[in-house]
Amino acid sequence: MTVDTYRPLARGLARAWRVSESWVFARELLDQPAAIGAIWPSSSRLAARMASRVPRHCDGLVVELGAGTGAVTRALLSDGIAPRRLVVIERSTRFVGYLRSRFPGIRVLHGDAARLAELVPPDHPIDAIVSSLPLRSLPPKVAAAIVAQWWAVLPAGGTVIQYTYDLRARGLASLPGFMERASDIVWANLPPARVMALECSRADPRFAPAAGD
Ligand SMILES: C[S@@+](CC[C@H](N)C(=O)[O-])C[C@H]1O[C@@H](n2cnc3c(N)ncnc32)[C@H](O)[C@@H]1O
Repeated sequence: MTVDTYRPLARGLARAWRVSESWVFARELLDQPAAIGAIWPSSSRLAARMASRVPRHCDGLVVELGAGTGAVTRALLSDGIAPRRLVVIERSTRFVGYLRSRFPGIRVLHGDAARLAELVPPDHPIDAIVSSLPLRSLPPKVAAAIVAQWWAVLPAGGTVIQYTYDLRARGLASLPGFMERASDIVWANLPPARVMALECSRADPRFAPAAGD
């Protein structure tokens, strides 16, 4: 047997995996359209751009929010993030089951990003938050609570990576407590998306979450 013998089998398996990924995504989209906020899983180009914005030469946690069917998770792992550094937080029961079977070596936590501080392992510094959350289609109060949690868990200099379908997107760039470090458009996605990398600045007092938030 040569490598060529296995190639069609590998291709067939990869195709079957993509079909099941789209099927799981479509079912969840029908059930929870606002929480999904996307018409299709992230493209490999978008996922790779998100992963490329994670700072290198760090050893803290990388927390992925709203992993869906794992397009960005896969890109983070391919880009060299060690599985022990990756913590995935997802609110959908269906996606959590899918992610756990697809990525058995990483921590996939079932929970709400608005309660991030309670979910992340204590005493582990977080280097980056990689978010696919649909902040624009979530209720504004929920989106604000999620952003407040970013600020609560990140150290000064920590990074947030978020994409949006609003290609003009100035909203996140002007978030108190964060400075924009990079922002560019990925056209090869349905629809095209802007990827932003923000740096957490602990010095901005306007954004300290109120007690009890
Ligand atoms: C745009 S989809 C993710 C797309 C993903 N990158 C993919 O390609 O499959 C948004 C995800 O955020 C999740 N989500 C929405 N609100 C959430 C919340 N408050 N906490 C955690 N996950 C949430 C949804 O269940 C969904 O998986």
